[in-house]
Amino acid sequence: MNPIKKMLAIPATVVALWAVSAQAATNDDIAKRLEPVGQVCVQGQECKGMEVVATAGGGGAKTPDEIIAKHCNACHGSGLLGAPKIGDTAAWKERADHQGGLDGILAKAITGINAMPPKGTCADCSDDDLKGAIKKMSGL
Ligand code: HEC
Repeated sequence: MNPIKKMLAIPATVVALWAVSAQAATNDDIAKRLEPVGQVCVQGQECKGMEVVATAGGGGAKTPDEIIAKHCNACHGSGLLGAPKIGDTAAWKERADHQGGLDGILAKAITGINAMPPKGTCADCSDDDLKGAIKKMSGL
């Protein structure tokens, strides 16, 4: 290799390396921009970001009203998908009578039943939180 070619070859390598790393940074940026705005939480998967949403709302303690408004009302407010309606005590009682009372339907609410998602989508609700919400919705 003649000396002039050698001198040209070195900067060319540096430029090539720079170009590769610049490209990587750009790809990262693009990936960031392409991240979904909202994410669907699937049962059995870790739900990244959900705990942030949960704490932003109430700072820990949740009242039955807050849980209902945030999670249960979507279906139980209107009876969507056959959900027993809020305040329709007879419908709730009928279920409770067939399933071992309040604790029986609480157990179903925790595991989910048919179109009713586990914990009614309130993944960070304790059993007591759910029980409070069920009591309030059912009047039992
Ligand atoms: C996506 C809609 C949806 C949401 C959200 C939802 N439910 Fe339900 N829920 C249903 C449906 C539908 C049923 C009736 C299921 C069946 O019997 O087929 C039901 C039934 C129930 C039952 C009765 C279970 C039984 O054994 O009969 C309880 C208790 C209950 N829901 C509690 C809750 C609570 C508490 C919340 C909020 C934390 C909640 N649900 C949120 C749809 C929902």
